[in-house]
Amino acid sequence: MAVWEAASVHQPVLLAEVIHWLAPKAGGVYADGNLGLGGHAAAVLEQSGPDGRLLGFDWDQQALELARQRLAVYGRRAILLRRNFTELEASLAELAIDHIDGLLLDLGISSLQLDGSPTVSVQQHPDTGPSGDRARLKYTGYEAPGCLPESAALLNAYGPLNRQVVAHGEQLRPTAAGRGFSFRRDEPLDMRMDNRGATTAADLLAQKSAAELADIFYYYGEERQARRIAARLVEARQQAPITTTARLAELVAAAVPRRFHPSKIHVATRVFQALRIAVNRELENLETILAMAPPLLKTGGRFCVISFHSLEDRLVKRAFAADPRLRVLTSKPVLPGPAELAANPRARSAKLRVAERLPTTTSEQDRLGQGKRSGAGRRGQEKKAGGGRLARSEGGAS
Ligand SMILES: C[S@@+](CC[C@H](N)C(=O)[O-])C[C@H]1O[C@@H](n2cnc3c(N)ncnc32)[C@H](O)[C@@H]1O
Repeated sequence: MAVWEAASVHQPVLLAEVIHWLAPKAGGVYADGNLGLGGHAAAVLEQSGPDGRLLGFDWDQQALELARQRLAVYGRRAILLRRNFTELEASLAELAIDHIDGLLLDLGISSLQLDGSPTVSVQQHPDTGPSGDRARLKYTGYEAPGCLPESAALLNAYGPLNRQVVAHGEQLRPTAAGRGFSFRRDEPLDMRMDNRGATTAADLLAQKSAAELADIFYYYGEERQARRIAARLVEARQQAPITTTARLAELVAAAVPRRFHPSKIHVATRVFQALRIAVNRELENLETILAMAPPLLKTGGRFCVISFHSLEDRLVKRAFAADPRLRVLTSKPVLPGPAELAANPRARSAKLRVAERLPTTTSEQDRLGQGKRSGAGRRGQEKKAGGGRLARSEGGAS
């Protein structure tokens, strides 16, 4: 029987550092707001064995399905939800969990989402003939008899592989269509991590005014040519709607005079980042969880956040520093070491910040007591205590 091995498609960033700072222990309850393929989550469950529990969130159905399969070995210790991580508090209440020992956020998108489909390195077991196995993989699609569990998970998640020719040792690109996160391939401009969301990147490009688009590019992409680009896009959409990554990248390149093209990144990089952030309301969601999480942590509980660009990192740094319920443990962000940087290009811009929940103050305890007596929710009480400075996002994904 053939044996197919899938190379890991998403390497968890700063894994050793996360485990060091989160310090999972037996019996603990942890939350992972960005399950992705469950790499960090698996390590947390390993470290907190035999009975630590993990509540994992991902709003992307494909990611959640892969994480579910990967974490199945942990049985009921892993509780996985297709929800926005901003629903952490409500989810804990539903599960009758009062406080957690740690929360991890690994923000942004996974390589799975960025690439549109995973690259799976397929190794064929030496005792099988190539054509037979090709046929089996091709026609059985989902089942792929003989797959290792991880391969099966990937194949299952990406559907029938009937457009692929697979040969021994070749890179296999399953057929799931990309969502337009990158300009490197021509794809529809969707950019929703959660396909239940109402608005795609193409919708934003069709509906927003030039001024609104310029604001998106400037604030979420730190793009200095924002106005110029927005004006060009608004002009171009009168001819035909902008619905593909290739067209958008071309229009951006044409809008920016050659001398202003950045030397190290593609000229459209910042516009793509900005649209993705806007479509997924990434900064609003981050603000919401930064305000929501501190009171949900036990005393000494750790809040670890990995961010990938300065807009996120700034929010994390400021929220940690301003929250009287937290003690910052990392005065400077923790960065990946040279070995990780060499092995995983995605780690390049990663920054980890960690804060610890301080003991509950007497006045806080009083307020909590009153809250319980009056039947008011804990969040309402604690928001008044300093957590309510940021609005709750409307970008619910559940
Ligand atoms: C960088 S990946 C996480 C990778 C993961 N730590 C691992 O080890 O595989 C980020 C994931 O978070 C998810 N995500 C982003 N924002 C989210 C949100 N507000 N709520 C739930 N999931 C979110 C994305 O769908 C994506 O799968």
